[in-house]
Amino acid sequence: MLIAGNWKMYKGQAETAEFCIELKRSLADVEAVDVAVCPPFPSLAVGVQILAGTDIAVAAQNVHWEEEGAFTGEVSAPMLRELGVYGAIVGHSERRQLFGETDEGVGRRTRAALDAGLSVIACVGETEEERERRETEDVLRRQLSVLEAEDNLVIAYEPVWAIGTGKTATPEIAEEAHEFIKGLLDVPVLYGGSVKPENAEELLSLPAVDGALVGGASLDVESFASICLSASRS
Ligand code: PGA
Repeated sequence: MLIAGNWKMYKGQAETAEFCIELKRSLADVEAVDVAVCPPFPSLAVGVQILAGTDIAVAAQNVHWEEEGAFTGEVSAPMLRELGVYGAIVGHSERRQLFGETDEGVGRRTRAALDAGLSVIACVGETEEERERRETEDVLRRQLSVLEAEDNLVIAYEPVWAIGTGKTATPEIAEEAHEFIKGLLDVPVLYGGSVKPENAEELLSLPAVDGALVGGASLDVESFASICLSASRS
């Protein structure tokens, strides 16, 4: 079971430090769950420093496929490794929708990160229109076609209509999509999209759900720790 907090563009160094000190304290006795926080790039180092020696990992929110070069605004896998970062999210729907990332790019980013020794949480998921047009399986098949099953790869199923909207996939929808993904790629599958303390237990108890990628509710240390506790119980 893995619970990862995707902070998006929230929390500079000072807030990150405060959060990590408190999270460390809250999760000191929590077992049987892997936990990761994914701060923005400038806050990674302080996260790594404070969480060193704990089981809580620090991951980035993206990673480029080249090791270095003329790629303004990008960060490479070896740079993240040097910082002590354990992994990266790749292909989040906000990257795809707002910054034009493609399936091919997601495949290249994932490959490079895994080759450099990072773990990857690769995000997939359909939009509301795609679901209404009954294209969910086609979309997932296309998004997954650039990935191969590997030890350090985890998929996050994040239906776009459930991200930041307060709408959560029903247990049936989540279970069906997770089963479908696992049929194509034999790797753990996290659920993402409005996961919060109130619905975590139900979602995490589903047989095909191996954890959660949490956005909004991961910004508050109490609610994130409470989701991690639910995971340790399921
Ligand atoms: P949310 O975001 O939990 O705020 O819906 C999830 C995500 O974007 O990973």
